[in-house]
Amino acid sequence: AAEALDLGDHTDHMAKEIEEQPAVVAEILDRIAGRAVDGSMWAGLGLAPFERVAVAACGTSLNAGQVIATALRGLGGVPTDTVVASEADQAVLTPGTLVVAISQSGETADVLRALDRFADRHQVLALTNNLHSSLARRADAVLDCHAGPEIGVAATKTFTAQVVVGVSAMISALVASGRIDRSRALALVGDMQRLPGLLAGAAEASADRIPLLVSSVRDASGFLFLGRGAGLPFAAEGALKLKELSYRWAEAYPAGELKHGPLALVTDGTPVVVVENGEHKIQANVAEVRARGGFVITIGGVGADVPALGRDAGRLLSRRTAVTDQGMSTWGPLESVVPLQMLARELALQLGCDVDKPRNLAKSVTVE
Ligand code: M6R
Repeated sequence: AAEALDLGDHTDHMAKEIEEQPAVVAEILDRIAGRAVDGSMWAGLGLAPFERVAVAACGTSLNAGQVIATALRGLGGVPTDTVVASEADQAVLTPGTLVVAISQSGETADVLRALDRFADRHQVLALTNNLHSSLARRADAVLDCHAGPEIGVAATKTFTAQVVVGVSAMISALVASGRIDRSRALALVGDMQRLPGLLAGAAEASADRIPLLVSSVRDASGFLFLGRGAGLPFAAEGALKLKELSYRWAEAYPAGELKHGPLALVTDGTPVVVVENGEHKIQANVAEVRARGGFVITIGGVGADVPALGRDAGRLLSRRTAVTDQGMSTWGPLESVVPLQMLARELALQLGCDVDKPRNLAKSVTVE
């Protein structure tokens, strides 16, 4: 704990925790990669086989849950829903549904209330960064996120850890149930081994560009974030981080929804952050934004060159995202979260906000 409080060379905990992500992911993979491939990670949890999955969580943990759900549907064809924990009363789960409850603190009241509704009739797998939490105690099985203590109120490394542990566990479950074979699991986990390098590369590619870029959009009152498919949860996470830290409006939309309403918000200079993940249709949506004078900030760009930074050309990260023989990684462009976190932090700093303790928010939300 003392080590977590020590800022070292960093000015704030958020900066430190963003930077720790490649090491956190490398350590997680060291611990679990082998057990994901042979199905033993899942077997060790002692849970019964499942037909469907429902992920229940809030905030950033819900965004991580969306990434895990996308991977589970894409890899194993498992019907998977995500449930906003505070709206769990509206959810109807069929028998054989495994509930995956995700919470870094394990003390979020909305998640615990969701368990009140589900735990009698469904197996609950907890994914948490606190093995001593109420959630961990109440679940049938627990997965440790292995993120280490996170001090900043804005979740950063716990998001990344939740995705890596959660997707690994689901790969393991798919092997154990025969939905995918070991060679497929080996290829997927091999692909995950590239993540520490991709996360570090994303930070490096963004570091010099973000302060300049933010100075161009600092006075904007609102931001749009767009993604498609597996990129969408990352757009949602980028928008959540930006509003939490900078107190600017920020909304995420599936890019295809733009023309059904949000495009009316785009005028000259409106910042629109686009999470690319190889979905070619998104280019048409970006063209619609550009035609209205929107200021496009691109995160990602598969195989693209980095153009000169200027108005309407803020490409922050230009790396090939993880590619398997099945095409783009089913868990989406995880490395894109790094520039999204850095963008939100830099905007907050330029606006004079406290990035570790945003107003009105608590690290652990223990009221409904
Ligand atoms: O402890 P939890 O993961 O259950 O917390 C859920 C949310 O309150 C949390 O992720 C919140 O959205 C973060 N402050 C976002 O950065």
